[in-house]
Amino acid sequence: MSNKLIDGKVVSEKIRGEIKISVDKLKKKNSTVPGLAAVLVGEDGPSQIYVRNKRKACENVGIYSEEHKMPENTSEDELLKLIDKLNNQENINGILIQLPLPKHINETKILNSVNPDKDVDGFHPVNAGNLFEGKPSYIACTPHGIIKMLEHYELDIEGKNAVVLGRSNIVGKPAAILLLQKNATVTVCHSRTKNIEEILKNADIIVAAIGRAKYVTKSMVKKDAIVIDVGINRLETGKLVGDVDFDEVHDIASMITPVPGGVGPMTITMLLWNTLKSYENSIS
Ligand code: GUN
Repeated sequence: MSNKLIDGKVVSEKIRGEIKISVDKLKKKNSTVPGLAAVLVGEDGPSQIYVRNKRKACENVGIYSEEHKMPENTSEDELLKLIDKLNNQENINGILIQLPLPKHINETKILNSVNPDKDVDGFHPVNAGNLFEGKPSYIACTPHGIIKMLEHYELDIEGKNAVVLGRSNIVGKPAAILLLQKNATVTVCHSRTKNIEEILKNADIIVAAIGRAKYVTKSMVKKDAIVIDVGINRLETGKLVGDVDFDEVHDIASMITPVPGGVGPMTITMLLWNTLKSYENSIS
């Protein structure tokens, strides 16, 4: 196995082990465990897989989980009613609304209706605002997982040129803020950015989150850059690949995440982490 790999499975196992120990202790002490509710509306294929993986991950660390699967034609009011119930349900500490939601549902309205204290995805404006201000809060799981991986491998962030490809609320923007808080010099590139290749070539750290298969190639990457690939794209052959051409870029990078087995497992790990944190906050 290459020693350049930033292995999300290894880092996840370590953190999930620590979470399991905490959950076991809480169970002994309080006779209760943290609880996570996942809400899935419609039949989106990848979302079904995410939700199933989340359930298994909860089981493995002893977190209670429940799934609420609703049909594609669920109305906004029905969904709001369910969220209101979960906001008030004592054994539920975390509420996850699986995205994307069907087109007829206003995503912002739905995400804003989740109690910020149970917003383990970190998508509520209160938690996004706390992140902006550098206050401890619930941090969006994928960017949080990226930082945890960089910390695990003791990779320097301070003073580095970090380039984030993508500006989504879920990954790009929070990743940029977290890197900034770690004293990186951060550039965010997006679909309207000119000279992306030139900007990338100057990056010490690249976070690729644009959802374009193998977009980042060797010629765009500086020697010894650290490359974090958030992409999960399925090729026509059925193969899963990231936003980075791993085989090419692996040669030139100092460290790189694989797809699968890089960022993916960390997202779920940080969801478990946030759910445990929410439980601890609820009893303190
Ligand atoms: N859809 C794709 N990624 C995510 C995520 O991290 N959280 C939720 N809730 N939905 C998603």
